[in-house]
Amino acid sequence: MEERPKSIDGRDWSYNAPSVLPRVPAMNLTFKSLHPTFFAEVSPVDLRTVSDRDTLDQIRAGMDRYAVLVFRDQAFAGTEQVEFAQRFDGQLHAKTGAAAITKNRFGNEALTDISNVDEGGEIFQSNDRRRQYLLGNRLWHTDASFQDPPGRYSMLFSVVVPPVAADTEFADMRAAYDALSADMKAQLEGLRVQHSIAYSRSTLGFEFSEKERETLKGAVHPLVRTLPNGRKSLYLASHAASIIDWPVPEARLLLRDLTEHATQPQFVYRHSWRVGDLVIWDNRATMHRGMPFDDKKYRRELRRVTTLDIPIPPTTYTQRRGAVDAEGAKETRNK
Ligand code: OGA
Ligand code: MN
Repeated sequence: MEERPKSIDGRDWSYNAPSVLPRVPAMNLTFKSLHPTFFAEVSPVDLRTVSDRDTLDQIRAGMDRYAVLVFRDQAFAGTEQVEFAQRFDGQLHAKTGAAAITKNRFGNEALTDISNVDEGGEIFQSNDRRRQYLLGNRLWHTDASFQDPPGRYSMLFSVVVPPVAADTEFADMRAAYDALSADMKAQLEGLRVQHSIAYSRSTLGFEFSEKERETLKGAVHPLVRTLPNGRKSLYLASHAASIIDWPVPEARLLLRDLTEHATQPQFVYRHSWRVGDLVIWDNRATMHRGMPFDDKKYRRELRRVTTLDIPIPPTTYTQRRGAVDAEGAKETRNK
């Protein structure tokens, strides 16, 4: 077995490590864009110590502008990643698909294990059900769209990175929406989509048991979403199974065409992970997928926290956006 990589800072990164950290005053973050329409790298900051509203609002503003942000050299241990997600965006998603099929390695359903290793740290065997489930992340998707409320922000933290490329691709669903013809935009207005993880996994031949399916019933969401900054996005995912009141084949053809459109190279950015990266993406505005690598040979360990897409408690930042935010919340309620 290969040597377990050392942590970048000598700290104990195990989930139960204790944490006592100083909080620091507000900082001025800057964003360096890495793609013409979205995705930016944020200036150095230790997110474990960020708790003031002003800095958190700068991150939210950055998310509204870029939809995906990468923070380098993070060192979350113990519950620090979960705590940051709560400070930043409130309530966390704990009803993930993974929770239905396997026991959480960290004993906390809000911290999803996106690793190809078992509780003993061994790389999954090829026929391990948990591996086969995880392979579903290689389909274009947005997190927890098969739940209501779905996911808002996902925060994926990389702990162990293989020596070969094991990247994640992101697609800008706002730019993809903008590029549609006026006719197509009119056709999509008001359509509602049924999302189901049982459906998306079944396209790969992965089947849930009846008991698992009971906890994963699926959810309905608008196909076009209005974001807090007023922009519209295509809300698609591999989980998108049908359109309400449409014949299923016709719905699937449209969903397939839209996905092909939205994942053309000009809308896609490919992120190469470094140990310590925290990537935050807005599930309302993007899709993502894991890229193939030799997962039976190389260890890859990431941990994800996803927040609930519920109305945001008022802050100076959300008050400034006022009207648009109210629109967004109304759209969510009317689903
Ligand atoms: C996820 C996900 C892709 C990857 O964590 O939600 O889809 O590259 N990850 O691991
Ligand atoms: Mn995902």
